[in-house]
Parts: sequence; structure tokens; C-alpha cells
Amino acid sequence: MIRAAGPDDVAAIVAIEQACFGATAWSEGLVRDEVASERHVVLVCGADAYGAVSVAGEDSDLDRIAVLPAARGRGLARQLLEALIDRARDLGAGRMLLEVAADNDAAIGLYESFGFDTISTRRGYYAGGVDALVMELAISEWR
Ligand SMILES: CC(C)(COP(=O)(O)OP(=O)(O)OC[C@H]1O[C@@H](n2cnc3c(N)ncnc32)[C@H](O)[C@@H]1OP(=O)(O)O)[C@@H](O)C(=O)NCCC(=O)NCCS
Repeated sequence: MIRAAGPDDVAAIVAIEQACFGATAWSEGLVRDEVASERHVVLVCGADAYGAVSVAGEDSDLDRIAVLPAARGRGLARQLLEALIDRARDLGAGRMLLEVAADNDAAIGLYESFGFDTISTRRGYYAGGVDALVMELAISEWR
């Protein structure tokens, strides 16, 4: 069910971006570049959900994880994040970092359930003055 994204998935990913992020959705060009990049891992779960991670040596960054509203609450994000952690570890990363809006309870709940810890706060990082939490997980030891 979860597989690597290819060029044929770009339209579905853009639709997920628009449904989940509205005005801050990534453009088609950005999605296309991410899918083509060797430094990025982009995984899809059908046309319902996708996630992207970038890997640079010891560090990996969770760039996106998003599930269409109608498909939420069924464990798709959990499956995607597990697969992204596995891929990042296979590529040599020892930790995963991410930034999340401090008012995004669903995403914070997901990350905390995996054991991510908040290591710093960026005050007023997002539009409207919302703080960003920087979270970290040691993936070399995870599971
Ligand atoms: C965050 C998001 C990816 C979760 O997707 P999902 O498929 O509904 O999540 P799952 O069903 O896999 O849930 C996994 C865990 O996440 C946590 N979680 C999910 N939704 C939650 C909510 N509304 N409130 C609190 N915790 C939540 C829970 O710990 C859950 O485990 P449980 O079901 O055993 O309680 C989804 O809400 C989404 O796409 N949001 C918009 C995009 C976004 O903000 N992405 C993150 C920033 S890039």
C-alpha cells in the first residue's frame, strides 16, 4: 500500500497539499522537484496520503506528512511515518528532525506517539505569530 512516489503521483500529491495546507501548499514544481530529488524520500499511500523526508548524512528532516481529511484517523500517517523512518535509517540517518506549529494537535500527537521530543521553540515562526516546535527522534535506536 505504501510505495515510493514517481512522476505519475505528482498530481495526487498536489491535491493532498492543497486539501491539507491551503495557502501554504507546495506548488506542482516544488513537488515534482522533491519527487525527482535523490536527497529526498517521498512515499505515497494511494492518492490519500503522502510523506517526504530529506536526508543529509546523520540528519534527516521530515518535510511533510499529510492525509486527506476524509482518510484521517485510520492509521495512514502512522504507517507512512514508520516507512519514512525506515528509509531514512537505511540511508544512514541517525536522527530525524521536524518543525511543527505549536497549535497542530493532531501532528504533535502523532510525533509524540513515536517518541519525538521537543528540543526547542521558534517564537512566532508561522503566519499569525504561531510558534514552531522543533522535535527530534533518535531513529538509529527506534524500534
Ligand atoms: C497529522 C495527520 C498527518 C495525522 O494523520 P492520520 O492518518 O489521521 O493519523 P493516524 O490515524 O495515523 O494517527 C496516528 C496517531 O497520531 C495521533 N493523532 C492523530 N490524529 C490526532 C488528533 N486529531 N489529535 C491528537 N492526536 C492525533 C494519535 O497519537 C494517533 O494514534 P492513535 O490513533 O493510536 O491514537 C493529519 O491530521 C493531517 O494530514 N493533518 C494536516 C497536515 C499536517 O498538519 N501535517 C503535519 C505537518 S507537515
